[in-house]
Amino acid sequence: MDLESLGEEVKLNIRKASSIDEIESIRIKYLGKKGELTKILHSIGDIPAKERPRAGKLANKLKNEFSELIKEKKEEITKQKSLPWMDLSLPGRKPTMGGLHPLSILSQEIQDIFIQMGFSIVTGPEIETEYYNFTALNTPEDHPARDMHDTFYLKDGRLLRTHTSPVQIRTLEKHSPPLRIISPGRCYRVDTFDPIHSPTFTQIEGLWIDKDISMADLFGTLDLFAKKIFGKDVKTEFFPSYFPFTEPSAEMWIECPFCKGKGCSVCKKRGKIETVGAGMVHPNILKSLGYGEFNGFAFGMGVDRIAMTKYDIDDIRLFFQNELQFLRQFDDSKL
Ligand code: DAH
Repeated sequence: MDLESLGEEVKLNIRKASSIDEIESIRIKYLGKKGELTKILHSIGDIPAKERPRAGKLANKLKNEFSELIKEKKEEITKQKSLPWMDLSLPGRKPTMGGLHPLSILSQEIQDIFIQMGFSIVTGPEIETEYYNFTALNTPEDHPARDMHDTFYLKDGRLLRTHTSPVQIRTLEKHSPPLRIISPGRCYRVDTFDPIHSPTFTQIEGLWIDKDISMADLFGTLDLFAKKIFGKDVKTEFFPSYFPFTEPSAEMWIECPFCKGKGCSVCKKRGKIETVGAGMVHPNILKSLGYGEFNGFAFGMGVDRIAMTKYDIDDIRLFFQNELQFLRQFDDSKL
């Protein structure tokens, strides 16, 4: 074998070696006392004088290269041995993915229903002024309705909004009717946590302003909404109510989906559940904004309450406790 081919063969064997024993036998085979390269080096004197210098130089170069490669390979094998054992064929570990919160999922579902009915989505600030939260909504400072909306005040006199109704005013200030909007968002009140109260909750506000809108339009819109959320057989009932910003005002109740009106613990034996507050927008509000010739209706609903009714959840606190076992039931992303 010529020296070049021998060189290639040895380098390949060193590269392929995977244990110290293997590498040691390669060393003995080529560089040992009776090793192949050693033999060649010893017989350099026998080759013709003309070729001797070239052959001697090459053989010595190979000897040094082999020794270096063997040393490096030995180090590499020793290093690998000290690494923790690793099975590269094992499947990877998937990172846990987050999912949407049940209230976000339901809020989105409700928004989609109204979008199909031609409503647009508008949002407003959670930090509000008294003007938008109360005064502009026909609730002056001495109005008893303010009592039910006790909230958190900032040092500068602003407050955390108690409902999404201020968005009605903010929208009408910027856009002239006809318009149809809904506004989802967080609201706050000074309520201590208990199974049905929370100092923060999510509402969806609705507003439809045009000419010749009637209570029948309001009932039809809310009835369709209820059927989309609770199923097409759900029965709705409207009762007179009171809100300072609507006249007349109404409440929509749905037949309890759990007992079908018979009375159970979910509906507190009433057979029905209050779902939406609504009414015809008070003419004072439209007049003060310069839209006296228009009329329309507004409504507001608590997403937490609707979720509790739809999914039979008996404690509002579950929405805030970040219990993964609870939350995962609603996450349909199947991650
Ligand atoms: N803002 C009311 C509340 O939080 C709910 C409501 C009632 C909104 C009647 C409306 C409405 O727009 O017309 O209690």
